[in-house]
Parts: sequence; C-alpha cells; structure tokens
Amino acid sequence: MKEKKLTTENYKGTRDFFPEDMRIRNYLFSIMKQVVRSYGYEEYDGPMLESLDLYRAKTGEEIVGKQIYDFVDKGGREVAIRPEMTPTVARMVASRLRELPRPIRWFSIPNLWRYEQPGHGRLREHWQLNVDIFGVNHHAAELEIFSLACDILFAFGAPRNSFRLKVSHRSLLDEFFQNGLKLKPEQAHDVSKILDKKSKITQDEYVSMVQKVVPNNNDAVTLIDQFLNSNIANLKEIPGISEDSYQKIQSLFSDLESLGLRDIIDFDPSVVRGFDYYTGFIFEIFDTSPKNKRSLYGGGRYDNLIGLFSHEELSGTGFGLGDVTLLNFLQTHNLVPNLSNENTVFIPLLDETFFLSCQTIAKEFRKHGIPVDQALVSQKMGKQLSYAEKKGYRWILLLGEDEIAKNLVTLKDMQERSQETFSLEVALQKVNEQTKK
Ligand code: HAM
Repeated sequence: MKEKKLTTENYKGTRDFFPEDMRIRNYLFSIMKQVVRSYGYEEYDGPMLESLDLYRAKTGEEIVGKQIYDFVDKGGREVAIRPEMTPTVARMVASRLRELPRPIRWFSIPNLWRYEQPGHGRLREHWQLNVDIFGVNHHAAELEIFSLACDILFAFGAPRNSFRLKVSHRSLLDEFFQNGLKLKPEQAHDVSKILDKKSKITQDEYVSMVQKVVPNNNDAVTLIDQFLNSNIANLKEIPGISEDSYQKIQSLFSDLESLGLRDIIDFDPSVVRGFDYYTGFIFEIFDTSPKNKRSLYGGGRYDNLIGLFSHEELSGTGFGLGDVTLLNFLQTHNLVPNLSNENTVFIPLLDETFFLSCQTIAKEFRKHGIPVDQALVSQKMGKQLSYAEKKGYRWILLLGEDEIAKNLVTLKDMQERSQETFSLEVALQKVNEQTKK
C-alpha cells in the first residue's frame, strides 16, 4: 500500500503568500507606511502571544468568548494569540507613560487571529494596519485620524466616491438606551451587541432578539429604528439625547466641512462597534460598491484602556485597516497595479566557462541597486529565455565570447523587443533610466 502523504493545503482561513502574493502584500504595506509616516507616526511591534487577561478586560465577549485562539502554556499560564492590537499598544504605552513625549503617534501592521467562519472579507488570520494617537482630548485627534485614513485610500488611487467614512459617538447610544429607552445596563449592553450584528441577520431575527431583551416595551423596535435613521438635523428629537452630545457631533462635522472632508464622511448612528473599550467617537469606512459589505476600517476613541495598567488615564484614538478588505476594495475598483519582476536583470549562461565574467557583471549591477538573476547552469538559449519570460523579467544581459573579449554587453529589452550592444556603463544607465519611469 502507498504511504499516505501530508496535505499541501494551508490551515482553514489562512493564506499562503507565494511570491506573487507577497509582492501585493509588500505593495499594500509600503503605501500604508508611506502615508502614515508622512503624518509623523512611528512604527512599533509587540508579541503575537499575550496573557488572555489582557483581552478579557475590554475586548468584548464575541471575540473573547468565541473567536480567540487561547491555550494553557507549559507553565500553566492562560495565553492568547492576539485577535487585535489595541490592548497590546495600550499595554506598551502604559509601560512607558512617563517617558513618552505626547502626543504619542504610533502604527503597526500585525497579523491577527480570530476563529471566524471564513468568507468574503473574513479570514482567521489577517494583517491589520493599526494607527493610534494618545494624549489628545480634543476632536483634533479624530480630524487627523480621519484625514489620514482617507489619504491612505487616495494614495492607492481610490476615487472620492468609492468609499464612505461613517461616524457616531458612544454617548449617543448610551444616552438613548439609558434615558430614552430606559434600559438597564445589561439590557443596553445586549441591545448594542444585537445592533452590531444587525447587518448579518434577518429583520425578523433582529426584531425577535430585541423583543427578547426588552419584553415590556412594544415601541422599542420603532424607537431604535428612529434612532438608527436619525441625522444631525433631527438628532435632538431622539429621546434621551443630551445637548452636549449633539454639540459634539455638530462641532466635529462643522470642522470636517472646513477640512474639505464633509463630502465623504457621514454621521451614522447605526455605527456601533463591538468592542467594550470605546468611549467617544466611533467610525467605520465602507466600500460604496455593494460587492464588499464588510468594513475596511474600524476605529474610535477609548479613554479607559491605559487605566487598566496605570493610575493615570490617557485617551487614545485610532483604527484598524484590514489587508483582506482593502485588497477586495482595490480589486473591485481596479486599483491593483501590475506588480511584476520586470526590473530584475537576467543573465543567461551561454557556456560554463563564461560563469565568472557573468558574475563580475552581475556584481556591478547589484552595486547600483539593480537586482540580477544569474543563471547557474548553462542550458539551451530557448530554455533560458522561456524561464526569463515566465519570471516576467524585462531585461536580459547576453554575454558571449565576443562581448567578453571586447568588454561589452548585449542588452535585450523583452518589453520593446529590441537588442543592442553597449559598454557596461551605458547598459547600466539604460536599465536605470527605464526602471525609474
Ligand atoms: P475591528 O473592527 O475588529 O477593529 O477590525 C478592523 C478592521 O480589520 C475591519 O474593519 C476589517 O477590515 C479587518 N478585520 C477584522 N477582522 C477581520 C477578519 N477576521 N478577517 C479579515 N479582516 C478583518 C479592531 O480590531 C480595533 N482593535 C481597531 C482599533 C485600533 N481601534 C482603535 N485602534
């Protein structure tokens, strides 16, 4: 009987990144980093494993109860693979609270793990750009974070009408539940979890879930609908909403107008956010194409996370942008560039005895920052050219007996379908010029 082989399939909900996928991932990360750094944010990183307690405190029951990958280590400690980065960044900031100059502007692109049912825009392992600013109590932090979030999409070439940023404030929901619907804290908590899930369930399921939590209020569903559909103009008519909360929204949106962002940002009280730590403005960014329903970004202000580790409180505001949802967005809007290997120069080996001469030339190109793939065994020219074509190389550097004797190289441009013999310096210059284009 034949020996059973192991599967080459990757674990459910994860991705193998082959070189062509890695080129895309690196492209995504490089644009993200470029924009975030242009706002003065500095990169940090943390461990993939944290104590489970870190998430028990404020991450919320959906993730901690159902989605977290956790285990007990050999020393009996309860450990979790990070499902999100916010508790880690809060822990790290709290550990140096006194030393760090404020405001603290940090970013990171961690891989995160959640035991989810994989689907479009939803995997078990994803990478997430996290951008957070700490120590700014004014909504200037939100203005910066929103403008940075939009600039990332613009840097990928996104048209203004391809996405929308939707904002609400936690106090609206709190006041409406507490003073408008007169819910007890546990009921308010349960209804907010139902609202967070609303887009993923049917209307009937939604209504029966709300009625189960609020059995003695027949108007609850109607009032919640009124709240969810409210706008800035009629927000004051919603029962329970205070003048203070209304002013917060009003003033943020008037500044967004001055910033020139009002046309892509909506006030939307249906933004709930599933995490327990948010205390202020909360927001999400959505693709306007109905193909991508899942949010690209999710974020908000959290005032009490640092306080889990320290006697001092420090307000943080930030977001997570997922690589899976971003790529879906870019693909939907035809914004993924053709990322080939074309800048690499290929040097075929026409005869074993030319190997050292080829190597000298390869070194010279590499010294000038041009990547070179040098053939290591001599094969028929056709085979070597077909290899270069499959790899997507544009440049082929031919070194034959004649070229070596005269100190020249023949440069073949696969894109232009041309070929010319030059001195090494001219060949270098030609490749360099074309590459910069
Ligand atoms: P989140 O809403 O859970 O927020 O995630 C942010 C974004 O990450 C989502 O909008 C989505 O694009 C992506 N994402 C989340 N889960 C998955 C998944 N299973 N598969 C693919 N993409 C996913 C947070 O994690 C907050 N900690 C963000 C934050 C940072 N808030 C303040 N600072």
